Amino acid sequence: SAEGVRAALERLVRDVPDFPEPGIVFKDITPLLADHKAFSQVVEALAEMGRDESGAGVVDKVVGMEARGFILAAPVALALGAGFVPVRKAGKLPGETHAVSYALEYGEATLELHRDAVAPGERVLLVDDVLATGGTVAATRQLVEACGGVVVGVAVLMELGFLPGRETVGDLPLHALMTI
Ligand code: PRP
Repeated sequence: SAEGVRAALERLVRDVPDFPEPGIVFKDITPLLADHKAFSQVVEALAEMGRDESGAGVVDKVVGMEARGFILAAPVALALGAGFVPVRKAGKLPGETHAVSYALEYGEATLELHRDAVAPGERVLLVDDVLATGGTVAATRQLVEACGGVVVGVAVLMELGFLPGRETVGDLPLHALMTI
């Protein structure tokens, strides 16, 4: 149940003050990942967005963003009967890639996707742990669209409600299991 998932998140996502810098409260999901029941519930809740009313999977690919997105997106892909595709930081993927750069608070980041990882017309679900500014999701959407894929939704474990991530995501269906 949604209630059970929320309770598991409350109990098993740990606040770490002043990490990685003073003034930042880091949300550590490792206790959640270490708990089989909670991890399964969270994966099933994230996968919900990629199912129709009969419970059948309706996406071709699940894209996870490096690094914590990988941990969640891969089991979601298996649960949906879909393939898993990694979006990686610059210079990590060996094949031909599309690349998108975007602004961070300080500086710039670049994400890449293999050009042949998503075929034209494929339906794609994006899965990540945290939606903060939304920059990662927006860049990933551009990468999928550069391949001709269609992003049908975004599923995240946590949304930081005090940042404009939801506005950045715009018209895409967004499901967050928990909002902080
Ligand atoms: C974090 C998080 C998301 C992203 C969200 O990843 O896992 O991918 O930031 O932020 P945004 O909405 O402002 O783009 P991070 O860059 O810390 O990478 P990591 O998982 O490799 O540590």
